[in-house]
Amino acid sequence: MSLENKVAVVTGASSGIGKETALKLGRAGAKVALLARREEKLKAVASQIEDNGGEGLVLKTDVTDESQVRSAIERTAGTYSRIDILVNIAGLGIFKPVEKMSIDEWNKQVDVMLTGAFMATHYALPHIYRLKKGRVLFVTSLWGPVKTAADCSAYNAAKAGVSALASALREEIREKALEVGVSEIRPGTVATEFFDKAEYKGSVNPDRVLHAEDVADAILEAISSRNPIAHNVVELEGTNPPY
Ligand SMILES: NC(=O)c1ccc[n+]([C@@H]2O[C@H](COP(=O)([O-])OP(=O)(O)OC[C@H]3O[C@@H](n4cnc5c(N)ncnc54)[C@H](OP(=O)(O)O)[C@@H]3O)[C@@H](O)[C@H]2O)c1
Repeated sequence: MSLENKVAVVTGASSGIGKETALKLGRAGAKVALLARREEKLKAVASQIEDNGGEGLVLKTDVTDESQVRSAIERTAGTYSRIDILVNIAGLGIFKPVEKMSIDEWNKQVDVMLTGAFMATHYALPHIYRLKKGRVLFVTSLWGPVKTAADCSAYNAAKAGVSALASALREEIREKALEVGVSEIRPGTVATEFFDKAEYKGSVNPDRVLHAEDVADAILEAISSRNPIAHNVVELEGTNPPY
Protein backbone atom coordinates (compact mmCIF):
# COMPACT_ATOMS: atom_id res chain seq x y z
CA MET A 1 0.00 0.00 0.00
CA SER A 2 1.45 3.36 -0.95
CA LEU A 3 1.78 5.72 2.02
CA GLU A 4 1.48 8.92 -0.02
CA ASN A 5 -1.34 11.06 1.46
CA LYS A 6 -2.51 8.27 3.74
CA VAL A 7 -3.53 9.21 7.29
CA ALA A 8 -1.83 7.31 10.11
CA VAL A 9 -2.51 7.42 13.85
CA VAL A 10 0.47 6.45 16.01
CA THR A 11 0.14 5.91 19.78
CA GLY A 12 3.30 6.27 21.84
CA ALA A 13 4.69 8.72 19.28
CA SER A 14 6.67 10.83 21.77
CA SER A 15 9.75 8.58 22.02
CA GLY A 16 11.48 5.36 20.99
CA ILE A 17 9.78 3.08 18.47
CA GLY A 18 6.70 5.32 18.12
CA LYS A 19 8.75 8.42 17.39
CA GLU A 20 10.87 6.64 14.74
CA THR A 21 7.74 5.15 13.18
CA ALA A 22 6.04 8.55 13.02
CA LEU A 23 9.12 10.13 11.42
CA LYS A 24 9.36 7.38 8.82
CA LEU A 25 5.64 7.55 8.03
CA GLY A 26 5.97 11.31 7.58
CA ARG A 27 8.96 10.88 5.28
CA ALA A 28 6.98 8.33 3.22
CA GLY A 29 4.25 10.92 2.58
CA ALA A 30 1.67 9.99 5.22
CA LYS A 31 -0.04 12.55 7.44
CA VAL A 32 0.64 11.46 10.99
CA ALA A 33 -1.51 11.95 14.11
CA LEU A 34 0.84 11.79 17.09
CA LEU A 35 -0.62 10.47 20.36
CA ALA A 36 1.11 10.34 23.77
CA ARG A 37 1.04 12.28 27.05
CA ARG A 38 4.24 14.38 26.71
CA GLU A 39 3.06 17.19 24.48
CA GLU A 40 6.43 18.97 24.15
CA LYS A 41 8.00 15.79 22.81
CA LEU A 42 5.12 15.33 20.35
CA LYS A 43 5.58 18.91 19.15
CA ALA A 44 9.28 18.20 18.53
CA VAL A 45 8.37 15.09 16.49
CA ALA A 46 5.78 17.09 14.52
CA SER A 47 8.32 19.79 13.67
CA GLN A 48 10.83 17.16 12.54
CA ILE A 49 8.11 15.70 10.28
CA GLU A 50 7.31 19.18 8.94
CA ASP A 51 11.03 19.93 8.36
CA ASN A 52 11.03 16.87 6.09
CA GLY A 53 8.04 18.21 4.13
CA GLY A 54 5.36 16.15 5.92
CA GLU A 55 2.42 16.85 8.22
CA GLY A 56 2.12 15.94 11.91
CA LEU A 57 -0.92 16.48 14.15
CA VAL A 58 -0.12 16.73 17.87
CA LEU A 59 -2.81 15.12 20.03
CA LYS A 60 -1.86 14.97 23.71
CA THR A 61 -3.57 11.72 24.77
CA ASP A 62 -3.46 9.34 27.67
CA VAL A 63 -4.45 6.02 26.08
CA THR A 64 -5.99 4.85 29.36
CA ASP A 65 -8.61 7.61 29.17
CA GLU A 66 -11.47 6.60 26.87
CA SER A 67 -12.72 10.14 26.22
CA GLN A 68 -9.20 11.31 25.27
CA VAL A 69 -8.71 8.35 22.92
CA ARG A 70 -12.11 8.87 21.27
CA SER A 71 -11.48 12.58 20.89
CA ALA A 72 -7.99 12.04 19.39
CA ILE A 73 -9.39 9.64 16.79
CA GLU A 74 -12.29 11.97 15.98
CA ARG A 75 -9.95 14.97 15.69
CA THR A 76 -7.75 13.03 13.27
CA ALA A 77 -10.74 12.02 11.14
CA GLY A 78 -12.14 15.56 11.37
CA THR A 79 -8.85 17.14 10.30
CA TYR A 80 -8.01 14.82 7.42
CA SER A 81 -11.45 13.29 6.57
CA ARG A 82 -10.04 9.77 6.75
CA ILE A 83 -7.96 7.30 8.75
CA ASP A 84 -6.07 4.63 6.81
CA ILE A 85 -3.61 3.30 9.37
CA LEU A 86 -3.47 2.76 13.12
CA VAL A 87 -0.22 1.83 14.85
CA ASN A 88 -0.61 0.85 18.52
CA ILE A 89 2.75 1.33 20.21
CA ALA A 90 2.16 2.99 23.62
CA GLY A 91 3.57 0.86 26.43
CA LEU A 92 5.65 0.59 29.56
CA GLY A 93 7.33 -2.04 31.69
CA ILE A 94 7.00 -2.65 35.42
CA PHE A 95 9.09 -5.67 36.33
CA LYS A 96 8.47 -7.21 39.75
CA PRO A 97 7.67 -10.64 41.20
CA VAL A 98 3.95 -11.38 41.41
CA GLU A 99 3.81 -11.06 45.21
CA LYS A 100 5.48 -7.63 45.06
CA MET A 101 3.54 -6.19 42.11
CA SER A 102 0.73 -3.99 43.40
CA ILE A 103 -2.75 -4.20 41.90
CA ASP A 104 -2.27 -0.61 40.66
CA GLU A 105 0.95 -1.60 38.88
CA TRP A 106 -0.75 -4.62 37.30
CA ASN A 107 -3.70 -2.49 36.19
CA LYS A 108 -1.42 0.20 34.75
CA GLN A 109 0.35 -2.30 32.45
CA VAL A 110 -2.92 -3.79 31.29
CA ASP A 111 -4.69 -0.42 30.95
CA VAL A 112 -1.96 1.19 28.83
CA MET A 113 -0.97 -1.73 26.61
CA LEU A 114 -4.05 -3.94 26.30
CA THR A 115 -7.10 -1.76 26.98
CA GLY A 116 -5.38 1.29 25.43
CA ALA A 117 -4.73 -0.64 22.21
CA PHE A 118 -8.29 -1.97 22.26
CA MET A 119 -9.80 1.52 22.69
CA ALA A 120 -7.72 3.13 19.93
CA THR A 121 -8.61 0.25 17.60
CA HIS A 122 -12.29 0.33 18.59
CA TYR A 123 -12.59 4.03 17.71
CA ALA A 124 -10.36 3.98 14.61
CA LEU A 125 -11.81 0.88 12.94
CA PRO A 126 -15.10 2.40 11.66
CA HIS A 127 -13.02 5.02 9.79
CA ILE A 128 -10.71 2.36 8.33
CA TYR A 129 -13.65 0.08 7.44
CA ARG A 130 -15.37 2.96 5.66
CA LEU A 131 -12.39 3.06 3.24
CA LYS A 132 -12.52 -0.78 2.90
CA LYS A 133 -8.71 -0.74 2.88
CA GLY A 134 -6.06 0.01 5.48
CA ARG A 135 -3.72 -1.32 8.11
CA VAL A 136 -3.84 -1.89 11.86
CA LEU A 137 -0.56 -2.67 13.62
CA PHE A 138 0.19 -3.74 17.14
CA VAL A 139 3.68 -3.62 18.63
CA THR A 140 3.74 -6.50 21.12
CA SER A 141 6.97 -8.24 22.11
CA LEU A 142 8.69 -11.60 22.10
CA TRP A 143 7.91 -11.45 25.84
CA GLY A 144 4.29 -12.48 26.22
CA PRO A 145 3.13 -14.03 22.96
CA VAL A 146 6.29 -16.18 22.57
CA LYS A 147 8.29 -16.38 25.81
CA THR A 148 7.81 -15.45 29.42
CA ALA A 149 10.27 -14.39 32.07
CA ALA A 150 10.39 -13.98 35.82
CA ASP A 151 9.20 -10.55 37.07
CA CYS A 152 7.33 -9.95 33.80
CA SER A 153 3.87 -11.29 34.69
CA ALA A 154 1.81 -8.17 33.92
CA TYR A 155 3.92 -7.22 30.88
CA ASN A 156 3.73 -10.78 29.49
CA ALA A 157 -0.01 -11.02 30.16
CA ALA A 158 -0.76 -7.64 28.59
CA LYS A 159 1.31 -8.34 25.46
CA ALA A 160 -0.13 -11.86 25.08
CA GLY A 161 -3.55 -10.23 25.36
CA VAL A 162 -2.73 -7.76 22.60
CA SER A 163 -1.57 -10.66 20.45
CA ALA A 164 -4.95 -12.39 20.98
CA LEU A 165 -6.75 -9.13 20.18
CA ALA A 166 -4.80 -8.89 16.91
CA SER A 167 -5.64 -12.46 15.85
CA ALA A 168 -9.33 -12.13 16.70
CA LEU A 169 -9.49 -8.87 14.74
CA ARG A 170 -7.81 -10.57 11.77
CA GLU A 171 -10.57 -13.20 11.77
CA GLU A 172 -13.29 -10.53 11.91
CA ILE A 173 -11.75 -8.73 8.95
CA ARG A 174 -11.38 -11.98 7.01
CA GLU A 175 -15.14 -12.53 7.43
CA LYS A 176 -15.84 -9.01 6.16
CA ALA A 177 -13.59 -9.59 3.11
CA LEU A 178 -12.01 -6.16 3.45
CA GLU A 179 -8.50 -5.22 2.36
CA VAL A 180 -7.45 -4.35 5.90
CA GLY A 181 -4.20 -5.91 7.11
CA VAL A 182 -3.61 -6.60 10.79
CA SER A 183 0.05 -6.97 11.73
CA GLU A 184 1.68 -7.79 15.01
CA ILE A 185 5.32 -6.80 15.36
CA ARG A 186 7.14 -8.66 18.15
CA PRO A 187 10.53 -7.11 18.90
CA GLY A 188 13.13 -8.55 21.23
CA THR A 189 15.16 -6.05 23.26
CA VAL A 190 15.26 -2.55 21.77
CA ALA A 191 17.59 0.21 23.07
CA THR A 192 15.10 2.95 24.03
CA GLU A 193 14.23 4.90 27.17
CA PHE A 194 11.80 2.05 28.02
CA PHE A 195 14.41 0.38 30.26
CA ASP A 196 15.31 3.59 32.16
CA LYS A 197 11.64 4.12 33.01
CA ALA A 198 11.23 0.46 33.94
CA GLU A 199 14.15 0.61 36.40
CA TYR A 200 15.37 -2.52 34.64
CA LYS A 201 17.98 -4.36 36.70
CA GLY A 202 19.68 -6.15 33.79
CA SER A 203 21.98 -4.51 31.26
CA VAL A 204 21.27 -3.68 27.63
CA ASN A 205 24.31 -3.63 25.36
CA PRO A 206 23.25 -1.18 22.61
CA ASP A 207 25.62 -2.86 20.15
CA ARG A 208 23.83 -6.19 20.46
CA VAL A 209 20.16 -5.26 20.54
CA LEU A 210 17.64 -3.78 18.15
CA HIS A 211 17.21 -0.01 17.77
CA ALA A 212 13.95 1.90 17.45
CA GLU A 213 14.72 2.47 13.78
CA ASP A 214 14.95 -1.28 13.10
CA VAL A 215 11.47 -1.82 14.53
CA ALA A 216 10.12 1.22 12.67
CA ASP A 217 11.55 -0.25 9.43
CA ALA A 218 9.63 -3.50 10.07
CA ILE A 219 6.45 -1.52 10.79
CA LEU A 220 6.79 0.49 7.56
CA GLU A 221 7.47 -2.69 5.60
CA ALA A 222 4.30 -4.30 7.00
CA ILE A 223 2.19 -1.23 6.27
CA SER A 224 3.47 -0.69 2.77
CA SER A 225 3.42 -4.35 1.81
CA ARG A 226 1.28 -5.17 -1.21
CA ASN A 227 0.04 -8.31 0.56
CA PRO A 228 -0.33 -7.67 4.31
CA ILE A 229 -0.82 -11.39 5.01
CA ALA A 230 2.92 -11.72 4.52
CA HIS A 231 3.31 -9.55 7.64
CA ASN A 232 0.63 -10.96 9.96
CA VAL A 233 3.22 -11.67 12.63
CA VAL A 234 6.80 -10.42 12.46
CA GLU A 235 9.36 -11.44 15.07
CA LEU A 236 12.54 -9.42 15.47
CA GLU A 237 15.37 -10.85 17.54
CA GLY A 238 18.49 -8.96 18.59
CA THR A 239 21.59 -10.80 19.67
CA ASN A 240 21.69 -9.56 23.27
CA PRO A 241 21.34 -12.64 25.49
CA PRO A 242 18.78 -14.03 25.93
CA TYR A 243 16.99 -12.24 23.11
N1 LIG B 1 12.28 -1.43 24.32
C1 LIG B 1 12.09 -2.73 24.18
O1 LIG B 1 12.99 -3.56 24.44
C2 LIG B 1 10.79 -3.26 23.65
C3 LIG B 1 10.76 -4.62 23.22
C4 LIG B 1 9.55 -5.14 22.75
C5 LIG B 1 8.43 -4.34 22.71
N2 LIG B 1 8.50 -3.04 23.14
C6 LIG B 1 7.27 -2.26 23.12
O2 LIG B 1 7.44 -1.17 22.25
C7 LIG B 1 6.56 -0.12 22.64
C8 LIG B 1 7.33 1.20 22.65
O3 LIG B 1 8.35 1.12 23.63
P1 LIG B 1 9.74 1.88 23.46
O4 LIG B 1 10.80 0.84 23.64
O5 LIG B 1 9.76 2.71 22.25
O6 LIG B 1 9.78 2.75 24.79
P2 LIG B 1 9.47 4.31 25.08
O7 LIG B 1 10.45 5.14 24.36
O8 LIG B 1 9.42 4.38 26.57
O9 LIG B 1 8.03 4.55 24.46
C9 LIG B 1 6.84 4.31 25.15
C10 LIG B 1 5.78 5.20 24.54
O10 LIG B 1 4.52 4.88 25.14
C11 LIG B 1 3.89 6.09 25.51
N3 LIG B 1 2.99 5.88 26.64
C12 LIG B 1 3.21 5.29 27.83
N4 LIG B 1 2.12 5.37 28.62
C13 LIG B 1 1.18 6.04 27.89
C14 LIG B 1 -0.15 6.46 28.15
N5 LIG B 1 -0.76 6.20 29.33
N6 LIG B 1 -0.82 7.13 27.19
C15 LIG B 1 -0.23 7.41 26.00
N7 LIG B 1 1.02 7.04 25.69
C16 LIG B 1 1.73 6.36 26.63
C17 LIG B 1 5.05 7.02 25.90
O11 LIG B 1 4.64 8.38 25.78
P3 LIG B 1 4.34 9.40 26.98
O12 LIG B 1 5.19 9.00 28.13
O13 LIG B 1 4.68 10.73 26.38
O14 LIG B 1 2.87 9.24 27.23
C18 LIG B 1 6.05 6.68 24.80
O15 LIG B 1 5.76 7.41 23.63
C19 LIG B 1 5.97 -0.53 23.98
O16 LIG B 1 4.68 -1.04 23.79
C20 LIG B 1 6.91 -1.64 24.45
O17 LIG B 1 6.25 -2.55 25.30
C21 LIG B 1 9.65 -2.48 23.60
